[in-house]
Amino acid sequence: MKFNKTIFLLAYLMALAITPSLATSYEMEEPNSNLQRTTHFFHSRKQNRVSLTCDKNPKVCHIKGSAGSDCCKNKCVNFTIDVFNCGRCGKKCSFPKICCEGKCVNPRSNEKHCGKCGNKCDNRGSCVYGMCSYA
Ligand SMILES: *[C@@H]1O[C@H](CO)[C@@H](O)[C@H](O)[C@H]1NC(C)=O
Repeated sequence: MKFNKTIFLLAYLMALAITPSLATSYEMEEPNSNLQRTTHFFHSRKQNRVSLTCDKNPKVCHIKGSAGSDCCKNKCVNFTIDVFNCGRCGKKCSFPKICCEGKCVNPRSNEKHCGKCGNKCDNRGSCVYGMCSYA
């Protein structure tokens, strides 16, 4: 009967592990009608997950589908290309500049990012109005 005891212990531990998370989501519910309750339940769970994201746990920005691996104001961003957070949080690129490789550049005249990020004009070409010109 040692086997049975082990199973019981496992089940008990699992129950312990599950219970706190259920308790947390219940606390956030407001006493409403059943339908609203359900909606609110999912809603608040989602918001809770979002609000507990990268400020406290930067790793969440590394998961698949994230907008980027960097965290600014509790939002996952990509420092490489984000015109509002170019290279660092809050670094905004002023028009007509765009963010390429974490730097604000003017795609109308930048030889390495001519027209768009990474569009490099060949050696003697120059970037004119966002197009490489070899004249
Ligand atoms: C950030 O943007 C660059 C350029 O589009 C891309 O190569 C890179 O994978 C992005 N990083 C993340 C974490 O999405």
